[in-house]
Amino acid sequence: MNSSAKSENTDLQSDSRIRKPFDVNRIRSRFPALSMEIRGRPLAYLDNASTTQKPVPVIEAMERFYRYSTANVHRGVHALSDCSSAMFEDARRWVKVFLNAGSEREIVFVRGATEAVNLVAASWGSENLREGSEILVSEMEHHANIVPWQMIARRTGARLRVVPVDDDGELRVDALREMLSERVAILAVTHVSNALGTVNPVKEIVKLAHECGVPVLIDGAQGVPHLKVDVRDLDADFYVFSGHKVFAPSGIGVLYGKEKLLEAMPPYQTGGDMILTVSFERTTFNDLPHKFEAGTPNIEGAIGLAEALKFLGGLDRDAAMAHERALLAETIRQLDEIDGLRRIGRPKHQAGSISFTVPGVHPHDMGALLDSRAVAVRAGHHCAQPLMERFGVGATTRASFAFYNTFEEVERLVRGIRTAREYMK
Ligand code: ALA
Repeated sequence: MNSSAKSENTDLQSDSRIRKPFDVNRIRSRFPALSMEIRGRPLAYLDNASTTQKPVPVIEAMERFYRYSTANVHRGVHALSDCSSAMFEDARRWVKVFLNAGSEREIVFVRGATEAVNLVAASWGSENLREGSEILVSEMEHHANIVPWQMIARRTGARLRVVPVDDDGELRVDALREMLSERVAILAVTHVSNALGTVNPVKEIVKLAHECGVPVLIDGAQGVPHLKVDVRDLDADFYVFSGHKVFAPSGIGVLYGKEKLLEAMPPYQTGGDMILTVSFERTTFNDLPHKFEAGTPNIEGAIGLAEALKFLGGLDRDAAMAHERALLAETIRQLDEIDGLRRIGRPKHQAGSISFTVPGVHPHDMGALLDSRAVAVRAGHHCAQPLMERFGVGATTRASFAFYNTFEEVERLVRGIRTAREYMK
């Protein structure tokens, strides 16, 4: 552990809000993947914005479900089905508490953030968008918060408008203020940029939008893993996130929506479980949230997600977030000492991710060299091509952190980058 890591821990110990010092090794021991070796070297997993590793309680909960609780939900009249239904609905309650939503009716289980945005764009959009409506998205959105809006815009005659980002990778709130008008039907904006790590002032943004009567969807896929989220405090109309980025299984995610909005929206997909009655003449739909959960849901995914949220709840989150911030600060400090390295985006508030380019080294080559040293990063456009274009790059290398990363891993990352730079010279 280097000196900044030591001072970080000392700071934490002297903070009266922190229950106990943050012990990264104790936390790492709960994630089996983190003790793996790749080609004889310990894995340094710095690709957490892509997906996160899973702790033992999540893995065990999934196994327990498969061994002892497998049955469909909301359908059976037998004990196992009662049990899996109870576990599934209990998982929903955990999500509700985690987000501080007003009711379980506001928590819809989906496959992930992508499906949640598609659901809102298709369902809310079909009812509320028309020729001349404007949909605002930001220039730093992930494709998943752009393309669904393009599709519904095309179908309804609405227009997609883009709130620009400045040279530091910050959202231009001043431009947003000017773009808000009575034509704007919805604003869809990310909480944290997956490519740059910019933390947007979403509470302020929601307030601004609401002053013009504009509802806001927040893409929380990169927010939930790094920040405490309270949807009522944010006053978000929709908030979406994916389980797999928050230490839970893939294929499960959450759409939070204010009850009155969800209530007024038509179903997205149709089939079993989302109906009350069906005849060939007429179908009536189930209550919230089931109206939006057609077919057999990802039961074990929801149970795994609840375990992941319990795991997070059992951590000292203030200390975990402080540790992540210290890792990020140390990485930035060391990257800025590398000759020629260009950090893409220098936002004031940053969480999770750092993107950079090194002259003469293609990001894919950088990724491959780091991988040869068992340092896992992502290289490419990060599903944010318009943002890459804004910064005049086709791709970047991105290191992304979770609270289980260490200062030693930061040093291995930086040593790898230096070697790649020397090698390609
Ligand atoms: N959205 C994921 C990422 O940013 C896949 O890497």
